[in-house]
Amino acid sequence: MTHILAIDQGTTSSRAIVFDAGLRPVASAQHEFAQHYPSSGWVEHDPSDLWVSVAGVARAAVEKAGIHARDIAAIGITNQRETTLLWDRQTGRPLHRAIVWQDRRTADLCARLSAEGHEPMIAARTGLLLDPYFSGSKLKWLLDHVEGARARARRGELAFGTVDSWLIWNLTGGKVHATDATNAARTLLYNIAENRWDAEICALFDIPMQLLPEVRDCAADYGTTRADLFGREIPILGVAGDQQAATVGQACFAPGMMKSTYGTGCFALLNTGADMVASTNRLLTTIAYRLGGRTTYALEGSIFIAGAVVQWLRDGLGLIGRASETQALAEAADPGQDLVLVPAFTGLGAPYWRPDCRGAIFGLTRASGPAELARAALESVGFQTRDLWEAMRADWPAAARGVLRVDGGMAASGWTMQFLADILGAPVDRPAVTETTALGAGYLAGLQAGLCPPPEDFARAWSLERRFEPAMPDADREARYARWKTAVAATMGVV
Ligand code: G3P
Repeated sequence: MTHILAIDQGTTSSRAIVFDAGLRPVASAQHEFAQHYPSSGWVEHDPSDLWVSVAGVARAAVEKAGIHARDIAAIGITNQRETTLLWDRQTGRPLHRAIVWQDRRTADLCARLSAEGHEPMIAARTGLLLDPYFSGSKLKWLLDHVEGARARARRGELAFGTVDSWLIWNLTGGKVHATDATNAARTLLYNIAENRWDAEICALFDIPMQLLPEVRDCAADYGTTRADLFGREIPILGVAGDQQAATVGQACFAPGMMKSTYGTGCFALLNTGADMVASTNRLLTTIAYRLGGRTTYALEGSIFIAGAVVQWLRDGLGLIGRASETQALAEAADPGQDLVLVPAFTGLGAPYWRPDCRGAIFGLTRASGPAELARAALESVGFQTRDLWEAMRADWPAAARGVLRVDGGMAASGWTMQFLADILGAPVDRPAVTETTALGAGYLAGLQAGLCPPPEDFARAWSLERRFEPAMPDADREARYARWKTAVAATMGVV
Protein backbone atom coordinates (compact mmCIF):
# COMPACT_ATOMS: atom_id res chain seq x y z
CA MET A 1 0.00 0.00 0.00
CA THR A 2 1.86 2.96 -1.34
CA HIS A 3 -0.57 5.84 -1.64
CA ILE A 4 -2.63 8.21 0.50
CA LEU A 5 -5.95 9.76 -0.46
CA ALA A 6 -6.51 13.28 0.86
CA ILE A 7 -10.01 14.74 0.84
CA ASP A 8 -10.31 18.53 1.07
CA GLN A 9 -13.92 19.61 1.51
CA GLY A 10 -13.84 23.43 1.07
CA THR A 11 -16.34 26.28 1.05
CA THR A 12 -16.94 26.34 -2.70
CA SER A 13 -15.63 22.99 -3.90
CA SER A 14 -14.63 19.48 -2.86
CA ARG A 15 -11.24 18.20 -3.90
CA ALA A 16 -9.40 14.93 -3.61
CA ILE A 17 -5.70 14.35 -4.18
CA VAL A 18 -3.85 11.06 -4.35
CA PHE A 19 -0.31 11.32 -2.97
CA ASP A 20 2.42 8.73 -3.34
CA ALA A 21 4.40 7.53 -0.31
CA GLY A 22 6.81 10.47 -0.75
CA LEU A 23 3.79 12.83 -0.53
CA ARG A 24 4.11 13.85 -4.17
CA PRO A 25 0.70 14.59 -5.73
CA VAL A 26 -0.17 11.95 -8.33
CA ALA A 27 -3.71 12.86 -9.39
CA SER A 28 -6.55 15.10 -8.30
CA ALA A 29 -10.21 15.82 -8.95
CA GLN A 30 -12.40 18.76 -8.01
CA HIS A 31 -16.10 19.51 -8.00
CA GLU A 32 -17.86 22.81 -7.29
CA PHE A 33 -21.27 22.75 -5.63
CA ALA A 34 -24.13 25.22 -5.13
CA GLN A 35 -24.12 27.97 -2.52
CA HIS A 36 -27.50 28.89 -1.07
CA TYR A 37 -28.27 32.42 0.17
CA PRO A 38 -31.83 32.17 1.55
CA SER A 39 -31.72 35.60 3.18
CA SER A 40 -29.32 38.55 3.53
CA GLY A 41 -26.20 37.42 5.39
CA TRP A 42 -27.28 33.75 5.36
CA VAL A 43 -25.16 31.08 3.64
CA GLU A 44 -26.11 27.39 3.44
CA HIS A 45 -24.83 24.19 1.81
CA ASP A 46 -26.87 21.14 0.98
CA PRO A 47 -25.35 18.34 3.14
CA SER A 48 -25.89 15.81 0.36
CA ASP A 49 -23.94 18.06 -2.06
CA LEU A 50 -21.03 17.95 0.39
CA TRP A 51 -21.11 14.17 0.72
CA VAL A 52 -21.89 13.31 -2.92
CA SER A 53 -19.21 15.67 -4.25
CA VAL A 54 -16.63 14.20 -1.86
CA ALA A 55 -17.49 10.61 -2.80
CA GLY A 56 -17.33 11.57 -6.48
CA VAL A 57 -13.97 13.36 -6.42
CA ALA A 58 -12.42 10.69 -4.19
CA ARG A 59 -13.31 7.95 -6.69
CA ALA A 60 -12.32 10.13 -9.66
CA ALA A 61 -8.89 10.92 -8.18
CA VAL A 62 -8.19 7.23 -7.49
CA GLU A 63 -9.21 6.36 -11.03
CA LYS A 64 -7.06 9.14 -12.54
CA ALA A 65 -4.08 7.98 -10.47
CA GLY A 66 -4.44 4.59 -12.15
CA ILE A 67 -4.26 2.75 -8.84
CA HIS A 68 -6.51 0.30 -7.02
CA ALA A 69 -8.18 0.83 -3.67
CA ARG A 70 -5.79 -1.81 -2.27
CA ASP A 71 -2.90 0.57 -3.04
CA ILE A 72 -4.31 3.20 -0.64
CA ALA A 73 -2.93 2.91 2.86
CA ALA A 74 -5.11 5.60 4.39
CA ILE A 75 -7.48 8.51 3.90
CA GLY A 76 -6.88 11.96 5.36
CA ILE A 77 -9.74 14.46 5.67
CA THR A 78 -9.54 18.23 5.86
CA ASN A 79 -12.49 20.58 5.69
CA GLN A 80 -14.04 24.03 5.83
CA ARG A 81 -14.36 24.64 9.56
CA GLU A 82 -17.27 25.81 11.76
CA THR A 83 -19.95 24.90 9.18
CA THR A 84 -22.69 23.23 11.21
CA LEU A 85 -24.74 20.11 10.48
CA LEU A 86 -27.41 18.24 12.39
CA TRP A 87 -28.65 14.80 11.36
CA ASP A 88 -30.73 11.83 12.45
CA ARG A 89 -28.60 9.02 13.90
CA GLN A 90 -31.04 6.38 12.71
CA THR A 91 -31.54 7.39 9.10
CA GLY A 92 -28.49 9.61 8.56
CA ARG A 93 -30.83 12.26 7.16
CA PRO A 94 -29.95 15.92 7.83
CA LEU A 95 -32.60 18.00 9.59
CA HIS A 96 -31.64 21.20 7.76
CA ARG A 97 -29.14 22.51 5.27
CA ALA A 98 -25.64 23.05 6.68
CA ILE A 99 -25.17 26.57 8.09
CA VAL A 100 -21.90 27.81 6.62
CA TRP A 101 -19.16 29.54 8.60
CA GLN A 102 -19.80 32.80 6.71
CA ASP A 103 -23.44 32.91 7.85
CA ARG A 104 -24.30 35.89 10.10
CA ARG A 105 -27.86 34.92 11.17
CA THR A 106 -26.89 34.60 14.82
CA ALA A 107 -25.27 38.04 15.11
CA ASP A 108 -28.02 39.33 17.45
CA LEU A 109 -27.82 36.28 19.70
CA CYS A 110 -24.03 36.67 19.98
CA ALA A 111 -24.37 40.40 20.69
CA ARG A 112 -26.92 39.66 23.43
CA LEU A 113 -24.75 37.02 25.11
CA SER A 114 -21.80 39.37 24.88
CA ALA A 115 -23.82 42.23 26.44
CA GLU A 116 -24.78 39.83 29.26
CA GLY A 117 -21.05 39.49 29.98
CA HIS A 118 -20.42 35.90 28.88
CA GLU A 119 -17.55 36.59 26.47
CA PRO A 120 -14.60 36.59 28.93
CA MET A 121 -15.55 33.13 30.27
CA ILE A 122 -16.07 31.75 26.76
CA ALA A 123 -12.81 33.27 25.48
CA ALA A 124 -10.81 31.89 28.42
CA ARG A 125 -12.05 28.34 27.80
CA THR A 126 -12.47 28.13 24.03
CA GLY A 127 -9.97 30.75 22.83
CA LEU A 128 -12.75 32.19 20.64
CA LEU A 129 -15.02 35.23 20.74
CA LEU A 130 -18.80 35.56 20.75
CA ASP A 131 -19.14 35.87 16.98
CA PRO A 132 -21.63 34.15 14.64
CA TYR A 133 -18.60 32.69 12.77
CA PHE A 134 -18.35 29.70 15.14
CA SER A 135 -20.63 26.64 15.31
CA GLY A 136 -22.15 27.04 18.80
CA SER A 137 -24.68 29.77 18.01
CA LYS A 138 -25.47 28.12 14.65
CA LEU A 139 -26.30 24.83 16.38
CA LYS A 140 -28.49 26.67 18.88
CA TRP A 141 -30.30 28.30 15.94
CA LEU A 142 -31.00 24.87 14.42
CA LEU A 143 -32.30 23.48 17.72
CA ASP A 144 -34.48 26.58 18.17
CA HIS A 145 -35.89 26.57 14.65
CA VAL A 146 -36.28 22.95 13.54
CA GLU A 147 -39.46 21.70 15.13
CA GLY A 148 -38.91 19.09 17.80
CA ALA A 149 -35.13 19.08 17.32
CA ARG A 150 -34.14 19.91 20.88
CA ALA A 151 -36.39 17.25 22.39
CA ARG A 152 -35.07 14.68 19.92
CA ALA A 153 -31.52 15.79 20.69
CA ARG A 154 -32.17 15.23 24.41
CA ARG A 155 -33.37 11.71 23.63
CA GLY A 156 -30.05 11.05 21.86
CA GLU A 157 -31.65 10.65 18.43
CA LEU A 158 -29.62 13.35 16.66
CA ALA A 159 -25.98 14.03 15.89
CA PHE A 160 -24.20 17.35 15.46
CA GLY A 161 -21.05 17.67 13.46
CA THR A 162 -18.78 19.98 11.54
CA VAL A 163 -18.10 18.87 7.96
CA ASP A 164 -15.37 16.38 8.97
CA SER A 165 -17.82 14.52 11.24
CA TRP A 166 -20.48 14.49 8.52
CA LEU A 167 -17.98 12.97 6.06
CA ILE A 168 -16.65 10.43 8.56
CA TRP A 169 -20.22 9.40 9.39
CA ASN A 170 -21.04 8.86 5.71
CA LEU A 171 -17.73 7.25 4.78
CA THR A 172 -18.09 4.72 7.60
CA GLY A 173 -21.78 4.07 6.92
CA GLY A 174 -22.86 5.69 10.21
CA LYS A 175 -20.48 3.64 12.35
CA VAL A 176 -18.29 6.52 13.61
CA HIS A 177 -19.41 9.84 15.07
CA ALA A 178 -16.13 11.61 15.74
CA THR A 179 -14.22 14.81 15.11
CA ASP A 180 -10.64 15.89 15.68
CA ALA A 181 -9.38 18.40 18.24
CA THR A 182 -8.84 21.19 15.68
CA ASN A 183 -12.41 21.07 14.39
CA ALA A 184 -13.80 20.75 17.92
CA ALA A 185 -11.80 23.86 18.80
CA ARG A 186 -13.89 25.91 16.34
CA THR A 187 -17.30 25.08 17.78
CA LEU A 188 -17.28 27.51 20.75
CA LEU A 189 -18.30 24.48 22.85
CA TYR A 190 -14.87 22.92 23.40
CA ASN A 191 -12.55 23.72 26.28
CA ILE A 192 -9.15 23.83 24.57
CA ALA A 193 -7.19 24.03 27.83
CA GLU A 194 -8.71 20.84 29.22
CA ASN A 195 -9.46 19.12 25.90
CA ARG A 196 -13.12 18.36 26.61
CA TRP A 197 -16.59 19.58 25.67
CA ASP A 198 -17.62 22.33 28.09
CA ALA A 199 -20.86 21.53 29.93
CA GLU A 200 -21.41 25.08 31.16
CA ILE A 201 -21.10 26.61 27.68
CA CYS A 202 -23.37 23.91 26.23
CA ALA A 203 -25.93 24.79 28.92
CA LEU A 204 -25.64 28.49 28.04
CA PHE A 205 -26.55 27.67 24.41
CA ASP A 206 -29.11 25.05 25.56
CA ILE A 207 -27.27 22.36 23.60
CA PRO A 208 -27.80 18.76 24.81
CA MET A 209 -24.38 17.13 25.04
CA GLN A 210 -25.69 13.83 23.63
CA LEU A 211 -25.36 15.56 20.24
CA LEU A 212 -21.60 15.94 20.36
CA PRO A 213 -19.05 13.77 18.54
CA GLU A 214 -16.13 12.05 20.22
CA VAL A 215 -12.92 14.10 19.92
CA ARG A 216 -9.75 12.35 18.70
CA ASP A 217 -6.17 13.29 17.78
CA CYS A 218 -5.43 14.58 14.27
CA ALA A 219 -3.55 11.38 13.45
CA ALA A 220 -5.78 8.62 14.83
CA ASP A 221 -8.12 5.80 13.91
CA TYR A 222 -11.43 7.13 12.55
CA GLY A 223 -12.76 3.77 11.36
CA THR A 224 -12.83 2.36 7.85
CA THR A 225 -14.85 3.27 4.79
CA ARG A 226 -17.86 1.22 3.69
CA ALA A 227 -16.54 -1.54 1.44
CA ASP A 228 -18.87 -0.60 -1.43
CA LEU A 229 -17.43 2.91 -1.81
CA PHE A 230 -13.99 1.93 -3.13
CA GLY A 231 -14.32 -1.82 -3.44
CA ARG A 232 -12.55 -2.39 -0.14
CA GLU A 233 -12.50 -0.88 3.34
CA ILE A 234 -9.90 1.89 3.63
CA PRO A 235 -8.87 3.26 7.04
CA ILE A 236 -9.43 6.95 7.79
CA LEU A 237 -6.34 7.93 9.77
CA GLY A 238 -5.99 11.71 9.59
CA VAL A 239 -8.37 14.62 10.24
CA ALA A 240 -7.81 18.38 10.66
CA GLY A 241 -9.64 21.61 9.86
CA ASP A 242 -8.34 23.11 6.63
CA GLN A 243 -6.32 25.94 8.17
CA GLN A 244 -4.72 23.61 10.67
CA ALA A 245 -4.00 21.09 7.92
CA ALA A 246 -2.30 23.89 5.95
CA THR A 247 -0.22 24.68 9.06
CA VAL A 248 0.91 21.04 9.09
CA GLY A 249 1.42 21.02 5.29
CA GLN A 250 3.59 24.15 5.63
CA ALA A 251 5.58 22.30 8.31
CA CYS A 252 5.01 25.11 10.83
CA PHE A 253 5.90 22.77 13.69
CA ALA A 254 8.18 25.11 15.68
CA PRO A 255 6.86 27.88 17.95
CA GLY A 256 7.09 31.22 16.12
CA MET A 257 6.42 29.78 12.66
CA MET A 258 3.48 31.33 10.84
CA LYS A 259 1.48 30.57 7.72
CA SER A 260 -1.23 32.44 5.89
CA THR A 261 -3.61 30.73 3.45
CA TYR A 262 -5.37 32.79 0.79
CA GLY A 263 -8.59 31.01 -0.21
CA THR A 264 -12.09 32.50 0.00
CA GLY A 265 -10.88 34.22 3.14
CA CYS A 266 -7.41 34.47 4.65
CA PHE A 267 -6.41 32.61 7.76
CA ALA A 268 -3.06 33.21 9.44
CA LEU A 269 -1.86 30.81 12.15
CA LEU A 270 1.14 31.37 14.39
CA ASN A 271 2.43 28.27 16.20
CA THR A 272 2.82 29.06 19.93
CA GLY A 273 3.83 25.54 20.94
CA ALA A 274 2.50 24.19 24.24
CA ASP A 275 1.57 27.76 25.30
CA MET A 276 -2.09 28.60 25.04
CA VAL A 277 -1.53 32.31 24.48
CA ALA A 278 -4.55 34.45 25.37
CA SER A 279 -4.85 37.28 22.88
CA THR A 280 -5.26 40.82 24.10
CA ASN A 281 -5.61 42.01 20.51
CA ARG A 282 -8.78 40.23 19.39
CA LEU A 283 -7.07 37.25 17.78
CA LEU A 284 -8.25 33.71 18.41
CA THR A 285 -6.45 31.08 20.41
CA THR A 286 -6.89 27.71 18.81
CA ILE A 287 -5.49 24.21 18.54
CA ALA A 288 -2.91 23.94 15.74
CA TYR A 289 -2.84 20.13 15.99
CA ARG A 290 -3.00 17.35 18.56
CA LEU A 291 -0.62 14.46 18.02
CA GLY A 292 0.01 11.60 20.43
CA GLY A 293 -2.30 13.30 22.95
CA ARG A 294 -0.10 16.42 22.99
CA THR A 295 -1.75 19.71 22.02
CA THR A 296 0.09 22.39 20.09
CA TYR A 297 -1.64 25.78 20.16
CA ALA A 298 -1.76 28.67 17.73
CA LEU A 299 -2.87 32.25 17.54
CA GLU A 300 -5.17 32.71 14.57
CA GLY A 301 -6.22 35.74 12.60
CA SER A 302 -9.30 35.11 10.46
CA ILE A 303 -10.20 37.41 7.57
CA PHE A 304 -13.45 36.64 5.78
CA ILE A 305 -12.72 38.17 2.38
CA ALA A 306 -9.46 37.52 0.47
CA GLY A 307 -9.89 35.55 -2.78
CA ALA A 308 -13.59 36.41 -2.58
CA VAL A 309 -12.71 40.02 -3.46
CA VAL A 310 -11.36 38.78 -6.80
CA GLN A 311 -14.55 36.75 -7.33
CA TRP A 312 -16.47 39.98 -6.74
CA LEU A 313 -14.40 41.78 -9.42
CA ARG A 314 -15.23 38.91 -11.78
CA ASP A 315 -18.82 37.97 -10.92
CA GLY A 316 -20.15 41.09 -9.24
CA LEU A 317 -18.58 43.81 -11.39
CA GLY A 318 -17.62 41.89 -14.54
CA LEU A 319 -14.24 43.69 -14.62
CA ILE A 320 -12.31 40.51 -15.40
CA GLY A 321 -13.15 37.26 -17.11
CA ARG A 322 -10.79 35.12 -15.04
CA ALA A 323 -9.26 35.59 -11.60
CA SER A 324 -5.76 35.30 -13.09
CA GLU A 325 -6.34 38.55 -15.07
CA THR A 326 -6.45 40.62 -11.86
CA GLN A 327 -2.69 40.93 -11.47
CA ALA A 328 -2.14 42.36 -15.00
CA LEU A 329 -4.98 44.82 -14.43
CA ALA A 330 -3.53 45.91 -11.08
CA GLU A 331 -0.09 46.39 -12.62
CA ALA A 332 -1.62 48.83 -15.12
CA ALA A 333 -3.09 51.04 -12.34
CA ASP A 334 -2.13 54.72 -12.15
CA PRO A 335 0.53 54.99 -9.40
CA GLY A 336 -0.69 58.52 -8.65
CA GLN A 337 -4.06 57.33 -7.42
CA ASP A 338 -4.73 56.04 -3.95
CA LEU A 339 -7.87 53.97 -3.82
CA VAL A 340 -8.45 52.01 -0.62
CA LEU A 341 -11.01 49.20 -0.67
CA VAL A 342 -12.21 47.80 2.66
CA PRO A 343 -13.84 44.49 1.64
CA ALA A 344 -16.17 44.15 4.63
CA PHE A 345 -18.75 42.38 2.44
CA THR A 346 -19.75 40.05 5.27
CA GLY A 347 -18.54 42.24 8.11
CA LEU A 348 -15.00 42.44 9.44
CA GLY A 349 -13.21 39.52 11.12
CA ALA A 350 -10.01 39.75 13.15
CA PRO A 351 -8.97 41.96 14.79
CA TYR A 352 -12.12 44.11 14.46
CA TRP A 353 -14.98 41.57 14.75
CA ARG A 354 -17.75 43.75 13.36
CA PRO A 355 -20.37 41.51 11.73
CA ASP A 356 -22.52 44.61 11.08
CA CYS A 357 -19.99 46.48 8.86
CA ARG A 358 -20.22 46.52 5.09
CA GLY A 359 -17.59 47.30 2.44
CA ALA A 360 -16.39 50.76 1.41
CA ILE A 361 -14.12 52.40 -1.16
CA PHE A 362 -12.14 55.56 -0.38
CA GLY A 363 -10.27 57.98 -2.63
CA LEU A 364 -12.35 57.68 -5.82
CA THR A 365 -11.68 60.30 -8.51
CA ARG A 366 -13.03 60.68 -12.04
CA ALA A 367 -9.87 58.97 -13.25
CA SER A 368 -10.46 55.88 -11.10
CA GLY A 369 -11.17 52.85 -13.25
CA PRO A 370 -11.05 49.05 -13.29
CA ALA A 371 -7.25 48.95 -12.93
CA GLU A 372 -7.23 51.07 -9.78
CA LEU A 373 -10.07 49.04 -8.33
CA ALA A 374 -8.26 45.77 -9.08
CA ARG A 375 -5.10 47.08 -7.40
CA ALA A 376 -7.06 48.23 -4.34
CA ALA A 377 -8.72 44.80 -4.16
CA LEU A 378 -5.38 42.94 -4.17
CA GLU A 379 -3.83 45.42 -1.77
CA SER A 380 -6.73 44.95 0.68
CA VAL A 381 -5.51 41.40 1.21
CA GLY A 382 -2.04 42.68 2.14
CA PHE A 383 -3.39 45.37 4.45
CA GLN A 384 -5.66 42.90 6.25
CA THR A 385 -2.73 40.52 6.72
CA ARG A 386 -0.70 43.40 8.17
CA ASP A 387 -3.50 43.96 10.72
CA LEU A 388 -3.13 40.33 11.81
CA TRP A 389 0.65 40.54 11.80
CA GLU A 390 0.55 43.59 14.10
CA ALA A 391 -1.87 41.88 16.46
CA MET A 392 0.27 38.74 16.58
CA ARG A 393 3.44 40.65 17.32
CA ALA A 394 1.65 42.55 20.09
CA ASP A 395 0.28 39.31 21.58
CA TRP A 396 3.44 37.28 21.26
CA PRO A 397 6.68 39.25 20.78
CA ALA A 398 8.55 36.19 19.44
CA ALA A 399 6.45 36.60 16.28
CA ALA A 400 8.43 39.76 15.50
CA ARG A 401 11.27 37.73 14.03
CA GLY A 402 8.94 36.02 11.61
CA VAL A 403 8.88 35.03 8.01
CA LEU A 404 5.41 34.41 6.61
CA ARG A 405 4.76 31.17 4.68
CA VAL A 406 1.94 31.58 2.17
CA ASP A 407 -0.30 29.24 0.20
CA GLY A 408 -3.75 29.07 -1.37
CA GLY A 409 -4.98 30.32 -4.75
CA MET A 410 -3.94 33.97 -4.35
CA ALA A 411 -0.39 33.01 -3.41
CA ALA A 412 0.10 32.30 -7.13
CA SER A 413 0.00 36.06 -7.80
CA GLY A 414 3.60 37.28 -7.56
CA TRP A 415 2.43 40.90 -7.57
CA THR A 416 0.15 40.31 -4.57
CA MET A 417 2.84 38.43 -2.63
CA GLN A 418 5.39 41.21 -3.32
CA PHE A 419 2.91 43.79 -2.03
CA LEU A 420 2.36 41.59 1.02
CA ALA A 421 6.12 41.49 1.76
CA ASP A 422 6.31 45.25 1.20
CA ILE A 423 3.44 46.14 3.51
CA LEU A 424 4.54 43.68 6.23
CA GLY A 425 8.18 44.72 5.97
CA ALA A 426 9.03 41.03 6.28
CA PRO A 427 9.95 38.19 3.93
CA VAL A 428 7.16 36.09 2.44
CA ASP A 429 7.97 32.48 1.50
CA ARG A 430 6.05 30.57 -1.13
CA PRO A 431 6.63 26.79 -1.00
CA ALA A 432 7.22 24.47 -3.94
CA VAL A 433 4.02 22.58 -3.10
CA THR A 434 1.16 25.06 -2.67
CA GLU A 435 -1.44 22.30 -2.13
CA THR A 436 -0.56 22.55 1.53
CA THR A 437 -4.04 21.89 2.93
CA ALA A 438 -4.43 18.51 1.23
CA LEU A 439 -0.75 17.79 1.87
CA GLY A 440 -1.27 18.35 5.61
CA ALA A 441 -4.26 15.98 5.70
CA GLY A 442 -2.33 13.42 3.65
CA TYR A 443 0.67 13.72 5.95
CA LEU A 444 -1.45 13.18 9.11
CA ALA A 445 -2.98 10.03 7.60
CA GLY A 446 0.42 8.84 6.37
CA LEU A 447 1.95 9.45 9.79
CA GLN A 448 -0.67 7.31 11.49
CA ALA A 449 -0.31 4.63 8.79
CA GLY A 450 3.44 4.48 9.42
CA LEU A 451 4.13 5.59 5.85
CA CYS A 452 5.36 9.13 6.58
CA PRO A 453 8.30 10.27 8.74
CA PRO A 454 7.97 12.15 12.04
CA PRO A 455 7.31 15.93 11.89
CA GLU A 456 11.00 16.95 12.15
CA ASP A 457 11.87 14.94 9.04
CA PHE A 458 8.78 16.09 7.17
CA ALA A 459 9.76 19.70 8.00
CA ARG A 460 13.22 19.17 6.49
CA ALA A 461 11.60 18.13 3.21
CA TRP A 462 9.61 21.42 2.96
CA SER A 463 11.08 23.37 0.05
CA LEU A 464 10.95 26.98 -1.00
CA GLU A 465 9.82 27.97 -4.48
CA ARG A 466 10.35 31.73 -4.05
CA ARG A 467 11.06 34.27 -1.31
CA PHE A 468 9.58 37.77 -1.66
CA GLU A 469 11.78 40.33 0.14
CA PRO A 470 10.28 43.66 1.23
CA ALA A 471 11.38 46.47 -1.11
CA MET A 472 9.10 49.40 -0.17
CA PRO A 473 10.77 52.28 1.69
CA ASP A 474 9.74 52.38 5.37
CA ALA A 475 8.14 55.82 5.13
CA ASP A 476 5.89 54.75 2.20
CA ARG A 477 4.94 51.54 3.97
CA GLU A 478 3.86 53.30 7.12
CA ALA A 479 2.04 56.10 5.26
CA ARG A 480 0.09 53.58 3.20
CA TYR A 481 -0.77 51.45 6.22
CA ALA A 482 -1.92 54.57 8.11
CA ARG A 483 -4.31 55.35 5.20
CA TRP A 484 -5.70 51.81 5.45
CA LYS A 485 -6.27 52.17 9.19
CA THR A 486 -8.13 55.44 8.63
CA ALA A 487 -10.28 53.78 5.95
CA VAL A 488 -11.15 50.88 8.28
CA ALA A 489 -12.01 53.28 11.12
CA ALA A 490 -14.30 55.22 8.75
CA THR A 491 -15.94 51.97 7.58
CA MET A 492 -16.66 51.03 11.18
CA GLY A 493 -18.03 54.53 11.80
CA VAL A 494 -15.48 55.36 14.46
CA VAL A 495 -14.07 58.57 12.89
O1 G3P B 1 -12.87 28.98 8.93
C1 G3P B 1 -13.32 28.84 7.61
C2 G3P B 1 -12.29 28.14 6.76
O2 G3P B 1 -11.97 26.90 7.30
C3 G3P B 1 -12.77 28.07 5.32
O3 G3P B 1 -11.73 27.84 4.48
O4 G3P B 1 -10.60 27.49 2.35
O5 G3P B 1 -12.94 26.69 2.60
O6 G3P B 1 -12.45 29.11 2.45
P1 G3P B 1 -11.94 27.77 2.87
